[in-house]
Amino acid sequence: MKPIIEIQALTKQYADGYLALDDVSVQINAGEIIALLGPNGAGKTTLISIICGLTTITSGSVGIAGFDVVRDYRKARSIIGLVPQELTLEPFETVLGTVNLSRGLFGKKQDKAHIESTLRQLSLWDRRNTQIRELSGGTKRRVLIAKALSHDPKILFLDEPTAGVDVDMRRDTWTVIKDLKRRGVTIVLTTHYIEEAEEIADRVAVINSGKIILIEEKNELMKRLGTKQLRIELERPISEIPESLRGFDVQFENGGARLVYRYDANRKQNDVHSVLEILTAEHIAIKDVQTYQSSLEDIFVSLVAEGRSS
Ligand SMILES: Nc1ncnc2c1ncn2[C@@H]1O[C@H](COP(=O)(O)OP(=O)(O)O)[C@@H](O)[C@H]1O
Ligand SMILES: [Mg+2]
Repeated sequence: MKPIIEIQALTKQYADGYLALDDVSVQINAGEIIALLGPNGAGKTTLISIICGLTTITSGSVGIAGFDVVRDYRKARSIIGLVPQELTLEPFETVLGTVNLSRGLFGKKQDKAHIESTLRQLSLWDRRNTQIRELSGGTKRRVLIAKALSHDPKILFLDEPTAGVDVDMRRDTWTVIKDLKRRGVTIVLTTHYIEEAEEIADRVAVINSGKIILIEEKNELMKRLGTKQLRIELERPISEIPESLRGFDVQFENGGARLVYRYDANRKQNDVHSVLEILTAEHIAIKDVQTYQSSLEDIFVSLVAEGRSS
């Protein structure tokens, strides 16, 4: 499958010399949700601004469905919807007026049915005649999403869609995003919430100091990270793993003085209890036990720390 977004060797140096993106290459597939995870200042907004044609490129290229964002700007832009990080709405305009105006700016004919279904999907239809200034922050964010969808884009960029949003509203936003994916929209979102990436992304890319330091299928990542270890320190080293433990993923460490049992922390039923029982039945004396799990959080923190020290 040909990717819908192709970013090649993209570098951005701001006028003051700051290198905000450093040789970024990423391909994004049609229909996926990709989360760009990174701390403040990592370069997330810069990357999105370049893809949407709002910021100039220093070197490298970005293609959207085969259109170069610089050479074929209008064509590339017509396929993209952007929900910016900052709330940028006209306070005295109504919800419906805001969304209609945005569609008009893309040179598209009015389409009442499309606008109505977009507003309904975002639970904004009942508020269509309300002025923006009367809405809560969370509702304004939904208006921004409706505005970004007004011209029926194939790709939607959401820059920190749930920053500073309460938990319920965050869940609502996730539902909306998953729903859009079901309708075939490709979604790129930035976030500094690990939980958000875990919850909705198909793939996760971690960006730090302008570099992509990890990009992987979320399920693979979770599988890798979902493993827990039970570390069992023994009173006396053993020379071989008892027959009765062969069915478990148990390994020796430290010359037989430690047994390490790996199990899937995501499974409701695990066999920690059975392993300990077997050891007791085998008269293998236990000195100490510990469990250990590396989380996405750990990986993220260590990747970001490495990035800083280099
Ligand atoms: N117009 C600009 N001029 C100079 N530096 C900028 C400009 N915009 C952003 N930066 C810097 O580029 C880095 C990345 O910023 P940004 O892309 O906004 O990060 P993020 O969205 O991940 O928080 C930051 O260090 C920021 O200060
Ligand atoms: Mg940002």
